[in-house]
Amino acid sequence: MSEEQLNELSSRALQRIEAASTEEELETVRVEALGRKGALAQASRQMGALAPEERARIGKLLNAVKQSLESSLERRKAAFAEKALRERLESEWVDLTLPAPGIRPGSLHPVTQVQAELEDLFISLGFTVLGGPEVETERNNFDALNIPPEHPARDMQDTFWLEGGYVLRTHTSPVQVRGMERLGPPLRMIAPGRVFRNEEVDASHEHTFYQIEGMMVDRDVSIAHLLYFMKTLISAIFHRDVTVRLRPGYFPFVEPGFELDIHCLICGGKGCPVCKYNGWVELLPCGLVHPNVLRMSGIDPEEWNGFAFGLGLTRLVMMRYGIDDIRLLMSGDLRFLRQF
Ligand code: DAH
Repeated sequence: MSEEQLNELSSRALQRIEAASTEEELETVRVEALGRKGALAQASRQMGALAPEERARIGKLLNAVKQSLESSLERRKAAFAEKALRERLESEWVDLTLPAPGIRPGSLHPVTQVQAELEDLFISLGFTVLGGPEVETERNNFDALNIPPEHPARDMQDTFWLEGGYVLRTHTSPVQVRGMERLGPPLRMIAPGRVFRNEEVDASHEHTFYQIEGMMVDRDVSIAHLLYFMKTLISAIFHRDVTVRLRPGYFPFVEPGFELDIHCLICGGKGCPVCKYNGWVELLPCGLVHPNVLRMSGIDPEEWNGFAFGLGLTRLVMMRYGIDDIRLLMSGDLRFLRQF
């Protein structure tokens, strides 16, 4: 085989290598040029017929051609492999931020979330978390809280009366009575739970809502103690400055009694249905426990006194998340609930 023939063979093979459009074509070229029965193998078999110095020269060229074909093949092969990998990555690409198909994980209702936060807070302040029944005795719901029979809270408008001296509790305050009778003084307790009122339902009234009752009974409890706990409570809830005001308020079971109001966070105080267009929302009625209440639960008011508060948990949740209609909280509508 002459030098020209070898060069010719080499450039034709290189052309075919470059032109190969599939790995199979590339393999065919390789077998035909570099295979055991390929063109180069045949050429080297013919070398024996050459004169010695010719043989050395052609032999060298043969090796050079072989090496250049091999490296071109390697390069094309690598390019094919890389392309295949790229295509595979492209086709197997997964968006990990897409929600997984199937059942979504649930979440706690916003009222439950805030309730749990406040339980943690009060536990850290040495309070016990108590529960009480939603069907209460008339005595615990009213009499033992110093609410006389003619008090408007007993009116047919507000109370769901049951038979046999029972009511659906209209507030969580009866758990004060249970706490005092069960645990005795000194006492620090909170009682979160559902309460019921025979109300006409609108954006800010529901027949069923949540409160958290709080009570501390000890020696020499003052309004300063009450204010300290109320301020701690409010700053823990809102994590920001909220304007508050304290007004005298009447509740038969406290004396003196207060209404702690906060500036409406829905409208910023301009007036909206949630704040009944007056810019303030009653958040936290509270006061010093009336001596009659202590006495009726077997605690000597000469020795002990205390404070109590009744937090409107449902209203607080509305304030915190800017929910402008109380009915959403009870709707069970997942489009609403999934936001929390
Ligand atoms: N139980 C009252 C209500 O539902 C709220 C309340 C007011 C609770 C003053 C208290 C308190 O403990 O001290 O309207």
